[in-house]
Amino acid sequence: MLILGIDTSCDDTSAGIVDNGRKILSDIVSTQKEIHEKYGGIVPELASRRHIEMIYPVVDEALKTAGVSLSDVSGIAVCKGPGLIGSLLVGCSFAKAISYATNIPLLGVNHLEGHIFSSFLGEYEPDFPFLALIVSGGHTSIYKVDGFGKYTELGRTRDDAAGEAYDKVSKLLGLGYPGGPVIDRLAREGNPNAIRFPRAYLPKSLDFSFSGLKTAVLNFLKEKGLYQKKIEVDSALIRDISASFQKSVVDVLVRKTEWAIKRSFVKRVVLSGGVAANSELRRRMIEMADERGVELFLPPISLCTDNAAMIASAGYFHLNSNNIAGLDLNPQAYLLL
Ligand code: KG4
Ligand code: ZN
Repeated sequence: MLILGIDTSCDDTSAGIVDNGRKILSDIVSTQKEIHEKYGGIVPELASRRHIEMIYPVVDEALKTAGVSLSDVSGIAVCKGPGLIGSLLVGCSFAKAISYATNIPLLGVNHLEGHIFSSFLGEYEPDFPFLALIVSGGHTSIYKVDGFGKYTELGRTRDDAAGEAYDKVSKLLGLGYPGGPVIDRLAREGNPNAIRFPRAYLPKSLDFSFSGLKTAVLNFLKEKGLYQKKIEVDSALIRDISASFQKSVVDVLVRKTEWAIKRSFVKRVVLSGGVAANSELRRRMIEMADERGVELFLPPISLCTDNAAMIASAGYFHLNSNNIAGLDLNPQAYLLL
């Protein structure tokens, strides 16, 4: 059963075809990185305008790459939120129009549900129940997943998301947008113990907080007289700041995952979202899972960041549960899972 997935929740236009919720036939992502990087973050108005230009060619390419036509498709899954409202509107309007014209069922997928179901697209899929740590630019949450549609939030960020912290620190260091990949790379050659940045463990809670860490980096730069000064990108100092900042983030994410395992008695963990592409987070999670006998599911890097295959995979489960959306489907910027 083929599902066409569409995601335009943020700054990437993506469309993909997935068979039976598990086998990717195509997954096309058109990035807008070059449009937003000069602003150091996403400009929502520019993002939605670019989605309008790209949605048709991207969907067309997804069908062509998969070697199928719309008549072979059993459902059209579209991300309905959370995300940037102008961006979401483009994907939802497009999906609704195709559904109306072809009578193919429309499936509304929560973006976070998509990230959870990216774990069904790898070589092995997790059995239920499992814990899902979603760490992206917009979200840092941990869920217990007991089955399709059965999600219990155990904790979430009280302020910045982990990816947002990467992006903001990157901007402070003059490293551009998105911050995650460049900090990840520079951190590999830095000393993670060079600077002691704070870790907000928030005792007894599975919530997260990363805004204090971002402020600590800002204060460090001010103390050293480096705030708003041009720092050599390939300097030892930048590498040490990157490595020390990253260690703070990863320490918290790994520790909180351990707490969640202890509390829930669930020894199966899925990692997802853009920050799940981070090499140090992946290494430390594997280490933790080995030590504690935890089954860990790490999607391939291409499925950690936003993509439409994950939306198509979740859409397949909606269709199987007969959870079909009407043409009154409206995207929402804020949407709980
Ligand atoms: O899942 P995603 O593509 O979009 C959202 O749903 O937000 O995540 C994007 C975020 C950005 O903040 C980016 O800096 C971060 O993921 N990211 C990384 C890495 N690659 C992307 N963060 C840390 N290390 C990486 N290698
Ligand atoms: Zn995402």
